[in-house]
Amino acid sequence: MKFDTPAGRNPIDNLNVVGKPVDRIEGPLKVTGTATYAYEQHAAAPNAAYGYVVGAGIAKGRIVSIDVTRARAAPGVLAVVTADNAGKLDKGEFYAARALAGPDIDHYHQAVALVVAETFEQARAAAQLVAVRSERSAGAYDLDAARATARAPKQGAFGPPPETSVGQFAEAFERAPVKLDATFSTPDQAHAMMEPHATIAAWDGDKLTLWTSIQQINWGVRDIAKTLGIRKENVHVVSPYIGGGFGGKGTILSDAVLAALGARHAGRPVKVTLQRTLMFNNVTHRPATIQRIRIGAARDGKIVAIGHESWSGNLAGGRPEAATAATRLLYAGRHRMTRLRLAHLDLPEGSAMRAPGEAPGMMALEIAMDEMAEKLALDPVAFRILNDTQVDPEDPRRPFSQRAFVECLRVGAERFGWRERSNVPAGRREGQWLVGMGVAAAIRGAPVTKSAARVRLDRNGVVTVETDMTDIGTGSYTIIAQTAAEMMGLPLDQVNVRLGDSHFPESSGSGGQWGAASATAGVYAACVKLREAVARKLGFDLADAQFERGQVSQGGRSVPLARAAGEGALVAEDTMEYGELDKRYAQQTFGAQFVEVAVDAATGEIRLRRMLAVCAAGRILNPKTARSQVIGGMTMGAGAALMEELVVDKRHGFFVNHDLAGYEVPVHGDIPHQDVVFLDETDPTIAPLKAKGVGELGISGVAAAIANAVYNATGVRVRDYPITLDKLI
Ligand code: MOS
Repeated sequence: MKFDTPAGRNPIDNLNVVGKPVDRIEGPLKVTGTATYAYEQHAAAPNAAYGYVVGAGIAKGRIVSIDVTRARAAPGVLAVVTADNAGKLDKGEFYAARALAGPDIDHYHQAVALVVAETFEQARAAAQLVAVRSERSAGAYDLDAARATARAPKQGAFGPPPETSVGQFAEAFERAPVKLDATFSTPDQAHAMMEPHATIAAWDGDKLTLWTSIQQINWGVRDIAKTLGIRKENVHVVSPYIGGGFGGKGTILSDAVLAALGARHAGRPVKVTLQRTLMFNNVTHRPATIQRIRIGAARDGKIVAIGHESWSGNLAGGRPEAATAATRLLYAGRHRMTRLRLAHLDLPEGSAMRAPGEAPGMMALEIAMDEMAEKLALDPVAFRILNDTQVDPEDPRRPFSQRAFVECLRVGAERFGWRERSNVPAGRREGQWLVGMGVAAAIRGAPVTKSAARVRLDRNGVVTVETDMTDIGTGSYTIIAQTAAEMMGLPLDQVNVRLGDSHFPESSGSGGQWGAASATAGVYAACVKLREAVARKLGFDLADAQFERGQVSQGGRSVPLARAAGEGALVAEDTMEYGELDKRYAQQTFGAQFVEVAVDAATGEIRLRRMLAVCAAGRILNPKTARSQVIGGMTMGAGAALMEELVVDKRHGFFVNHDLAGYEVPVHGDIPHQDVVFLDETDPTIAPLKAKGVGELGISGVAAAIANAVYNATGVRVRDYPITLDKLI
């Protein structure tokens, strides 16, 4: 089915099941420990041996020799895989880094060996006996220093163009009566997901099965086949449950490649999980940025010139952090420019992490907007409203499909009690606490991609949905069940959902907050076909047959849906394909983030007091799972504002704080009550469900709202994240 014109009314609009805040259907499995995560697929691979990864101890150089004699002779050891015996390896398409070093070492903790043994403890003990001799060479580890040699990146499949320009930015900025020219920095950040990367690999002849933790099943199939030089048809990837993935599990990493190699060498299934200490330097992360923002405005507060330059660094073949993405779309202004620069760094690979581009870009842009509002003596909410645009500012012929940004700000200001905010920084004190409020905009793209599903109606009237879509903790199982239930006129408990298996029809996967709108569109398409088949079978005219409460009815005649299955089952499969609606409309999600903080006047300790997000993201398929996504994003934004930072050792080229003791993320005690409001809207240009994603919108703007609240509380403007107390005193 092709989706290329805004859909009219369809069965989804009945909203009997869709749009309801139902509990996650897989929730009980997760909270009782019975959901099988990758490392727990004991039943599927009962005799799996254990693999333990040895990471490189230098950041850049060459392996001179690896002596595995002692490791190989250690108790229980079945195989040791290194570049010497791994055979020729390619690499995947999405991530740039190679899964196994040799002879070159490209980054710290890049895998140099996998030790396979009967037990985990034996593998771990033998791993200490692998003797690696390497030669170190000089590397580039300092983004600020590398800026001098940074270049315009190539246009990639994801992210904005490296450079955009409209009007005469430089001249207009120069002439503007009120202007800001400020530089901001955001640090490297880790995904730090709860479930580390983990895989069990098993070979059956030349066929490989991977039980792994991955967001994009089809990328994983493609990338493992390419890496090992085997046929895609011979790869089976299974990933029904995933303990968090923020872009770091887009496709396969070293655990999957090494498990496959280890299983081949050991002649039996092998399971590998990355130990927590490898979850910072072995894997991908959100790369640091340095961003310069220039805004020029007329005295009335209208922006006339806006420019955003961003520098980031990466390994050869890696992508830039697309921090300019939001600045292209968020505010009006005739003269504009954005510019990305990419430097070579020999740190671990920087890649997609929750709202790549927007998240770090908004950390800078939305502080800059706060600073401009102050220079103009305007309220920060009013300044943003004044500079709203209903068309793409780079291409005024292209309207936003929907843009309720102003309403988000207005609703949020009212609900949060924004008028209580002091206009004067450090103007409100309660005992030892300096209290302040901050606001920031939120914006994130609403992409959709091709997605397929299969639906089967059985003679008990149960519909089973199969698609290789993943549920990374977001609620995919539930919204897919809601979609099928609505389409077929069934209660939720008459729908089974099976996800995360490459034997199922290929879906959008989870990423870029495209999963909810795309995957449900594929299910919609398959259900449309199933409805046709049911109508044919039962002799109804599809045009006005009603599918409700397990019955199909028309003109007084009513037949149980189950009867269409006869003695067997009725199966339908389809793909939702997309045209180029996104060229006619700018399709984005919007929001406003409000935060109140209290800062200890003596110590600089920052406490979050209240947080509010108002979101406009099309139809909300399930307010409960959507809210969970947004508060998760807000929490991650709080981490980005106040604590998260991979500290770079600029001499040796690695992230020093590579465990969860040193890499701080928010805990419950750090997070206050989080209020989330969804505006009531539907966007018919996106998908038949008229919904957009919220998983990445939720983090956008949060850190800047906190930074602005800290400024309002203290009068200290911090432009380098994270905002730790030493920067306040
Ligand atoms: Mo996302 S950062 O595209 O999973």
